[in-house]
Amino acid sequence: MHDYDLLVVGSANADLVTAVERRPGAGETVLGSDLAVHPGGKGANQAVAAGRLGARTALLARVGDDAYGRLLLDSGRAAGVDTVGVLVGGAPTGVALITVDPSGDNSIVVAPGANSRLTPADVRAAASLFEAARVVSVQLEIPLDTVAEVVRVLPAGTRLVLNPSPPAPLPGEVLAACDPLVVNEHEARVILRGAGADVPDTPEDWARRLLALGPRSVVVTLGGEGALVAGPEGMARVPSVKVDAVDTTGAGDAFTAALAWRLGAGEDLESAARYAAKVGALAVTRAGAQVSYPTGAEVAALGDAASSGTASSSGAASSSGAASHGETR
Ligand code: RIB
Repeated sequence: MHDYDLLVVGSANADLVTAVERRPGAGETVLGSDLAVHPGGKGANQAVAAGRLGARTALLARVGDDAYGRLLLDSGRAAGVDTVGVLVGGAPTGVALITVDPSGDNSIVVAPGANSRLTPADVRAAASLFEAARVVSVQLEIPLDTVAEVVRVLPAGTRLVLNPSPPAPLPGEVLAACDPLVVNEHEARVILRGAGADVPDTPEDWARRLLALGPRSVVVTLGGEGALVAGPEGMARVPSVKVDAVDTTGAGDAFTAALAWRLGAGEDLESAARYAAKVGALAVTRAGAQVSYPTGAEVAALGDAASSGTASSSGAASSSGAASHGETR
């Protein structure tokens, strides 16, 4: 019996967000809207997304002993996330500087702060959280050594979901533990090149090459084209859910969290990805990351609206749409 459906190991950031007419190029200054401060970070986002859906969720992360750290702890607790594993101190809370344009696309720069102080020793000290979790989900806004330690302490039979964002070449032991590896196009290219593999033309071929690197399964998110799932049962395309995109920030995190939770509940990869696509789609319809995440009831209502033909048909955004170029997780 597991106490947690999902343990997320990852980052927690304060997102400092401004809306701009156009994201600036090199050497350019543009004026944006008044600043909004939201709880974010790929790890904390996943934990909050899962908590809001109803998953029993714990977060292993590190924040600073400061106002942003308290914002993140409050947001996690409000979503029902067990924050016993959130370590406090060592550096200021991580900060993400985010611009969002009128299409809902964003650009993000992260100052890692306390995230970079989440160490392999912190992972070893949290053994009881790992023992209690059905699925563990991790991303790459924490040190790669820490991610590798997660793989080493993973109890037998516990499933690992990895979204390598921001992308970096991955050691073989990490790739081999993924079930699934969740990537967008940009992340797929970086992982393949990092492993010395060619980058072929089609998503199906990316998935085949990625599987050959060791993951037990792979999910490739394809923007408005939906997602591709690939594993021992074969490959399948999952369509996107059309909605009006307001802000894509954190939609990929919501997608991955929902996917991880549904896999832990026993769903197959395709069914879990279909559910996750709805979660990610709803997340782009509201501003911010954690503050945009739907409840389980809202996801169920989207399913009803879609089947009765009342879902919005413009915008063509989806969870995977949010992640199609790597900068909009
Ligand atoms: O994936 C979206 C997240 O990326 C933001 O919340 C920001 O904190 C960065 O980590």
